[in-house]
Amino acid sequence: MSYKGVLDRYGHLFDLPEHTRPIALLEGDTPLIPMPRLARELGAAEIYVKYEGLNPTGSFKDRGMTAAVSEALGRGAKTVICASTGNTAASAAAYASRAGMRAVVLIPEGKVAAGKLAGAIAYGADVIQIEGSFDDALTMVVEITKKTPLALVNSINPYRIEGQKSGAFEICDVLGDAPDWHCLPVGNAGNISAYWMGYRQYAEVKGTKLPRILGVQAAGSAPLVLGHPVENPETVATAIRIGKPARGEQALMSAEESGGRIIAQSDEKILEAQRILASEGVWVEPASAAGLAGLKAEIEAGDFDPKGQKIAIVCTGHGMKDPGIIADSMPTPDVIPATMEALRELLGV
Ligand code: F0G
Repeated sequence: MSYKGVLDRYGHLFDLPEHTRPIALLEGDTPLIPMPRLARELGAAEIYVKYEGLNPTGSFKDRGMTAAVSEALGRGAKTVICASTGNTAASAAAYASRAGMRAVVLIPEGKVAAGKLAGAIAYGADVIQIEGSFDDALTMVVEITKKTPLALVNSINPYRIEGQKSGAFEICDVLGDAPDWHCLPVGNAGNISAYWMGYRQYAEVKGTKLPRILGVQAAGSAPLVLGHPVENPETVATAIRIGKPARGEQALMSAEESGGRIIAQSDEKILEAQRILASEGVWVEPASAAGLAGLKAEIEAGDFDPKGQKIAIVCTGHGMKDPGIIADSMPTPDVIPATMEALRELLGV
């Protein structure tokens, strides 16, 4: 039977109310790409990249958004609202438009990558830029949804987390078990919490093992590593430019329970990991490379013995989301006259 999305495939494992009315864009079922060269270089048995950029709106957010919007629609909500560093906004906008609902998204002014902002606008959301951070925007949407019928679709919404558990289910289904380690970026901390819930649930119902979780924040936005909120978070990985993660406690508990940890990586290391992934044919946005940056750093520091380990790295969003970062950090292409001579000279052939 043809694939119909994560609610159809895994809905029986999601805790969703009866009134849920499925809105799907055939999200999920993303490739788990083997990385044999990377595994050899890092000394691991097997490394896989879960390429979440291939979801309908280009990020993992679609897994949770299908669930959250389906629930909101079923309950009779007319408008969904979220704060976002960009990907949640694009995803909420897409699912809301498919459901015939209005989407309102609050984003930090000037801090959202071009591909995400364009997506939110293209899908028809009411995009509001605020003169503040993601954290300020989240506070505002939480406040307004307490007093109005607007449906909150940030990952504070439990149904988002239910849908996002599907990432863990898919990895286990493809590998036949959970990996030994699971590495991913951490921003508002919904995804790490969802993966851990998903792995735990599969362990109960399918008898799969539990992986250790390595969560990675950007050094300039690392409240969970520092142990306190960050007032003015900064990082080139704008997706995870978050100083007060809504599910921070749960994320720390998830990492600890799993026998793993949450660490921070510099922008430089994150961009280096982005280039390494691209050199393997997988182009991701900067935040999405944080998992690999963290894994590499832990191995290089001797804090993690990769020998014999099977490792899954979640790359959360597509490289096309943030074309600006490439323009800023990579050389501009050569310009030559439109002659064969000039081409041959440049290529040296
Ligand atoms: N990677 C990408 C590409 C993201 O967009 C986000 C979060 C994360 C990782 C972190 O996931 O928040 O569950 O810990 N983006 C949110 C947004 C905040 O608004 O799009 P998290």
